[in-house]
Amino acid sequence: MKQPVRVAVTGAAGQICYSLLFRIASGEMLGKDQPVILQLLEITPALKVLEAVKMELNDCAFPLLHDVVCTDDAAVAFKDADYGLMVGAKPRGPGMERADLLKDNGKIFSTLGKIINDVANPAIKICVVGNPANTNAYILMKNAPNLNPRNITALTRLDHNRAIYQLAEKTGKAMNGIKKMTIWGNHSTTQVPDIAHTSVDGEAAAGMVDTAWANEAFMPKVAKRGAEVISARGSSSAASAANGVIDHMNSWVLGTEEGDWVSMAVFSDGSYGIEEGLIYSYPVTCKDGDWTIVTGLENSDFIVQKMKESEKELQEERDTCSDLFA
Ligand code: NAI
Repeated sequence: MKQPVRVAVTGAAGQICYSLLFRIASGEMLGKDQPVILQLLEITPALKVLEAVKMELNDCAFPLLHDVVCTDDAAVAFKDADYGLMVGAKPRGPGMERADLLKDNGKIFSTLGKIINDVANPAIKICVVGNPANTNAYILMKNAPNLNPRNITALTRLDHNRAIYQLAEKTGKAMNGIKKMTIWGNHSTTQVPDIAHTSVDGEAAAGMVDTAWANEAFMPKVAKRGAEVISARGSSSAASAANGVIDHMNSWVLGTEEGDWVSMAVFSDGSYGIEEGLIYSYPVTCKDGDWTIVTGLENSDFIVQKMKESEKELQEERDTCSDLFA
């Protein structure tokens, strides 16, 4: 049996974590042979609920779950952590501007970045979920100079999975036949869901659906799916977001399938003309615990323009929070 790894999770008493933690403990994220220690962080008023989550985790008798630590101290939660799932964030309140949300959540991520920098395993792999996810990841990275920036990522796998479902529904084909879906850019409504390189049962998706559907129906449907769920459910996607985190980390740690890729918001190396250093969603392949951006894809002028718009939004978000990093 392998040695247990430490998985730190923030916002652990919230909605997403109520799905996420149980799936980590059952081995769905890191493999059925990998024991885990969950190190759960919450704000002080939520500790009582967090204790109840711990009771339920223990009551599942998961063979891989070695320990559960509940704390409101980030230095305890991230001590020697090998993985960091950054779910905790403030929701956008009534009358709150996007810039206020950026600043409030940015503060959380600058504080956590400094603490992670000091106490975590320097090789910690991080997935930021709390919104605005890409910019929070950027702020965390800027406050954690000891970490490899390649190890700080943000979640666009939920968008990727949403896109697969929309294409499966349109073509009437099974989801497991859909390969090489792509989400470019920011996890926001400027994201660019792109089927130009996608195949369905080995056939080019672009030949099976018309361009008008791809650009005018599919793209906005995927980009606004989060809002559609909120209006139906009264709160934001939780189980599907948790599933996205499981898929994101599983692909990163255990690798992507041959002949396929996944979407992850990662440290841009300037690929596709995107500013170096932004946390931007790209198609990536993963092997041996590392990711590689898929290069050499030919993009239409329409997609390039959309990719640039999403880049511009990320630059603006970053500039709004520039006081949170040197
Ligand atoms: P929630 O409100 O149910 O849970 C968030 C939890 O974070 C709360 O329990 C809260 O007490 C905690 N929290 C707040 N500040 C904290 C801090 N400084 N340290 C530790 N914990 C803290 O929200 P939910 O539904 O679990 O969503 C969490 C975040 O994920 C939100 O920002 C949401 O917008 C985002 N999200 C991102 C998605 C993505 O695809 N990237 C998809 C869906 C949601």
